[in-house]
Amino acid sequence: MKKKLIAGNWKMNGGLAANEALLTALNAGLDSARADVAVCVPAPYLSQVAALRGGLELGAQDLSAHEAGAYTGEVSAAMLREFGVRYVIVGHSERRQYHGETDDVVARKAQRALAAGLVPIVCVGETLEQREAGQTEQVVKRQLAAVIHLNGHCISEIVVAYEPVWAIGTGKTATPQQAQAVHAVLRAQLQAASAHADRIHLLYGGSMNAANAAELLAQTDIDGGLIGGASLKAPDFLSIVAAASALAT
Ligand code: 13P
Repeated sequence: MKKKLIAGNWKMNGGLAANEALLTALNAGLDSARADVAVCVPAPYLSQVAALRGGLELGAQDLSAHEAGAYTGEVSAAMLREFGVRYVIVGHSERRQYHGETDDVVARKAQRALAAGLVPIVCVGETLEQREAGQTEQVVKRQLAAVIHLNGHCISEIVVAYEPVWAIGTGKTATPQQAQAVHAVLRAQLQAASAHADRIHLLYGGSMNAANAAELLAQTDIDGGLIGGASLKAPDFLSIVAAASALAT
């Protein structure tokens, strides 16, 4: 089994003092971690977190689909690289929902990330309405297909996060069986596109916490987690890292 990847998505949370306290507490507890651990932080804090990251990998939450130029407010892949960023979330449902990001934009962002040597964490996931209408598989496959179509030659370099929209920040988690079923669909889709699909990390995200992480992470095709709320509390995030470490062979 490959090493799990546990990534925290701080979303629009944090502050200089709070970040420092959180990073200090995380690093104090990471010594025995047998998982890759990353924090995806708001762009203004990249330099602070780069300096204090210790054993954590640095991640960003978004990047521009453009290379450079007159795009006020945007942050480029090259800029992220300069700050030592390794991972960048693309296509989070909050970006799709509140900022109108289409499958095509998400695919182009993933392409920018890959071209700059960053690892895009590509998020896919269905809404409650889509799940209830029996469209889950169709939705996640469509979202991932756009990324595969544009990036097929280096698709094994991406990370995919399955984040059912109805489970994000709601305290409702997909059952391990529900999550595994979607992960298996995504794995098969990746296998059809790449001979190296087995090494791609497929993360689950959506109310993952200290209590439910072990069971989710034990599923065959769940290679880690993308954690929102629980990544802001050191003991909770460290418990999830410990659950991942316990599964390392
Ligand atoms: P929560 O863990 O707060 O549900 O958020 C999940 C998420 O959106 C991570 O990207």
